[in-house]
Amino acid sequence: MTVTFVEEGGAERKFEGVEPSQSLMEVGRTHGVSGILADCGGACACATCHVYVDDAWMEKVGGADAIEAEMLDLVSEFQKPNSRLSCQIRLREELDGLRVEVAPNGY
Ligand code: FES
Repeated sequence: MTVTFVEEGGAERKFEGVEPSQSLMEVGRTHGVSGILADCGGACACATCHVYVDDAWMEKVGGADAIEAEMLDLVSEFQKPNSRLSCQIRLREELDGLRVEVAPNGY
């Protein structure tokens, strides 16, 4: 499957042949996507993997659960309606073509 990150500054990083059953954060970190720091390693405890899901994908991706929403509150100055923590987005075939923008993290 294919996923695309848009880094801060507008650079597009498109990855093809991505295996499902990993998180979107893992793809970004593996390929050194700028702004995907993932300090907590995917435990939903740092909010340094914050992305904005492209509007066209929001319905399929779905919203944050209560624990993720609490973490997003920690970066509320950057939060938008389409904010998600990429470590909490589990890739599946349905999300082939997913496009997200990396959120500024303030660090
Ligand atoms: S990697 Fe820490 S919240 Fe996603």
